[in-house]
Amino acid sequence: MTHPSPADRIIELRRLIRYHNDRYYVDDAPEIDDAEYDALFRELRDLESAHPESFDPDSPTRKVGGTPSAGFRKVPHAVPMTSLENAFSADDLRDFLSGIRNFILELRDPGAPIALVAEPKIDGLSCSLRYEAGRLVAGTTRGNGAEGEDVTANVRAIADIPHRLKGDGWPAVLDVRGEVYMSDADFLALNERQEAEGAKTFANPRNAAAGSLRQLDPAVTSRRSLHFFAYAWGESSEPFAQTQWEARAKLAGWGFVLNEPAEQLTVSGSDDSGLLRYYDNLRDRRASLGFSIDGIVMKIDRLDWQVRLGFVSRAPRWAIAWKFPPEQAATVISRIVVQIGRTGKATPVAHLVPVNVGGVLVSRATLHNEDEIRRKDIREGDTVVIQRAGDVIPQVAGVVLERRPAGSVPFRFPSECPECGSRLVREPGEAGTYCTGGLVCAAQARERLRHFVSRGALDIEGMGDKNIELFYDKGLVRTPADIFTLELRDGREAPPLATWTGWGEISAHKLFEAIRRASVVPLDRFILALGIRQVGEATARLLARRYLSLVRWRAAMEAAADPASEAHHELLSIEGIGESVADDLVAFFREPHNLALLDRLTLPSGGEPPLLSVGDFQPPAAAGAVAGKTVVFTGTLETMSRSEAKARAEAMGANVAGSVSGKTDYVVVGADAGSKEKKARELGLTVLSEAGWLALIDRGRGRDNDG
Ligand code: IVH
Repeated sequence: MTHPSPADRIIELRRLIRYHNDRYYVDDAPEIDDAEYDALFRELRDLESAHPESFDPDSPTRKVGGTPSAGFRKVPHAVPMTSLENAFSADDLRDFLSGIRNFILELRDPGAPIALVAEPKIDGLSCSLRYEAGRLVAGTTRGNGAEGEDVTANVRAIADIPHRLKGDGWPAVLDVRGEVYMSDADFLALNERQEAEGAKTFANPRNAAAGSLRQLDPAVTSRRSLHFFAYAWGESSEPFAQTQWEARAKLAGWGFVLNEPAEQLTVSGSDDSGLLRYYDNLRDRRASLGFSIDGIVMKIDRLDWQVRLGFVSRAPRWAIAWKFPPEQAATVISRIVVQIGRTGKATPVAHLVPVNVGGVLVSRATLHNEDEIRRKDIREGDTVVIQRAGDVIPQVAGVVLERRPAGSVPFRFPSECPECGSRLVREPGEAGTYCTGGLVCAAQARERLRHFVSRGALDIEGMGDKNIELFYDKGLVRTPADIFTLELRDGREAPPLATWTGWGEISAHKLFEAIRRASVVPLDRFILALGIRQVGEATARLLARRYLSLVRWRAAMEAAADPASEAHHELLSIEGIGESVADDLVAFFREPHNLALLDRLTLPSGGEPPLLSVGDFQPPAAAGAVAGKTVVFTGTLETMSRSEAKARAEAMGANVAGSVSGKTDYVVVGADAGSKEKKARELGLTVLSEAGWLALIDRGRGRDNDG
C-alpha cells in the first residue's frame, strides 16, 4: 500500500514529538532544542489543519506535556493543568485578538477595548498547590495535564511557598498555580557543585528546577534553592476576583510572590502599541532579570470572559504565550547518521560538536528527510547555524558556506539500511525513505518491541529500552510473543537471568512478575500495543469502544478488507476514523505475519492457554443531557457568537454538525434561520430556540445521564 506523504510525515512528527516530550518532561533531559521542537510542532499543526482527515484525538498537538514518571504517587488534578498556545509574531498576536473578538459577541466592534494582563513567561515547571482552610495540603506537578506527581513534601521545602495563607478572604479550597524555577545564579552554582561531585549537570535552569523538585528525597530539594511564582489557579470553592489583575493582588496578599514586571494593558481598534512595547522591553531586559524567561504571556483580564472563552483541548482561548525569537549559535556537523524507526522510516540526524544555544547544550539536530538535506545542502563537516526558540527543540537554520572545508562532498543518502542492509526506498512523490527489511530489520523490530511494552500499551515495568535491546541482542526476545515465554525459557537458551551482570534473584523475579501482570490487558491498550500506523491511544479507545471484544474487533477488521462490506462501512462510520486510518487498519490485517502474531498472543496452542488475556472494553458511564448528541446551530444567535455556542456545546460532550440530517438530535434556531430549520421540521427533528437550548444544557450540567 502506498501512503500519501503528508500522512506519513504527520505520523512521524507525532512520534517524534511524543518521544521528545518524554525526554523533556519525564527525564528532564531534552535531546533536542526548543526551536527545533517548536518547528516540529508547528509543522505538525499546519499539516494537521491542511489534512483534517488525519485527525487523531491523541495527537500531541491536542495534549500537554509528558507522562507522569514512576516513583511519585499520581494525583488527578481537580481542574486540568493545560498548556498555552504560542504566538511567534505580532501577527499571531493579532490573530489571537481577532479570535477573541469573534468569540465574545460584545467585542465584535473593533473599537471595543479589551483589557489584558501581560506577564513574563517563566521557563520553569508548573505546579499546583492545594490549600484547604488556608493550609497547604498538597503540591502536584503538571504531569500529563490530567494527573501529576505528588511532590507535597518537596514543595514544602520551597521558601516562596506559604504553608499557611496570610490575611483573609481566601476560598476554603484553592489550588494556586504557578511556576517552580531556579534563578540563573543558583543554576550556575548547582552545576559547579554537581561537576565537582562528579554528578550530572543540567542543560538549563528549567531542567535543573525540574530535576531538583522531582527528587524522591525532599532534603535534596531543600538544598537546591528553588523559587515559586504564582500566576493562575485551578479549583476554587468560591470566586475571589473579577479580573486577573485583581486576582494577582489577592494572591500577593495571601503571601505569594508574583512574576514581575507585569502590566495591565488595553487594546482597542488597531492600536496594540502597548503590547508591542511591553514585549520589546522585556525581550531587551531578558538577560538581566536573573531568571529565565522565554517570552511573555497575555491574558484576558476579565474573568467572566475567561470562563466564557474556556479551553480548546490543550490550551485556554483566553491566554497566549508570545515567544521570543530563536537563539542561534554555530557549530560543526561531525556526522550525519540515518536512524530507522518502528515503521521503517529512515530519519537523518546531524551529530554536532556540542554547542550552547541560549543556555541549552545541543548535540543533535534532526534533518527530517533527504529533501531537507538537499534543499539546505547540508554536508558532514559543515559549519551550521543551529537555532532554538520557545520551550524545547533545535534545527539547522542554514550552512555557513564560507567555512565549508575544501574537498567536501554533498551528503549521499544511503541506499541500504544501516541496520539490516536491506534496500532503502522512497516512493515517487513521498518525502520519507523506508527500509524494506520489515521483519528482518533489527532496528524496526526493536522499535516495535519498545512500543509494545511502552507505558500506554502493555506497560511492562522493567522492560525499558535498555532491556529490550539486551534481550533482543541475545536472541531471547525477537517478537512480542517471546516476552511472555521468557520466564519459561529462562536458563535454557542462555544462563538464567538472575546470574547475568547487573541482575539478581530479586530483579529477575520482579521482571517476570511484571510480565505476568501485563499479560492481562484491556482491549484498548492491546490495540495500541500492536503499533498499527496512525493508531494512537485515542483511536485505539474508539475502536475498543465500538467493537468491545478482541474477537469482534478482529473479525470486523478482517471483513473490512472488502471496501463494499458492511464492516468497512461501520469502521468509517466511527467518528474520528477516516479513510486513511481505515486503510492502515485493513493493511495491518492483510499481512499474514500480523495475523500469526495475533494468533500466537491470543489463542490457545498445544493445550496451553493463550499468552495474553485481552479484556473486553468496559464503557464508562455517560454524563450530561446532551453528551453524545448531535446538534446543529442555524440562524443568528442573540446571546453568543456561533463560536461560543459551538464551544459550549462541545464542552458538554455534544457533537456540533454543520448540516441537518436524520442523525441530528437537536436543531437550535436563531433569528433568520433558513433552509436548515425547514429541513429539520420536515424530518421531524427536535427544533429548539436559543433559550430552549440554554435551558437544556443548564439542566444537563453536572448531572448524570438518566436516559
Ligand atoms: S498561565 C491555563 N502564566 O507556560 C493557563 N503560564 O507554555 C495557565 N508559564 O503551562 C498558565 N509563565 O507552565 C501562565 N505567566 C505565566 C506563565 C505560564 C510560564 C508556563 C506554564 C504553562 C506553560 C505553557
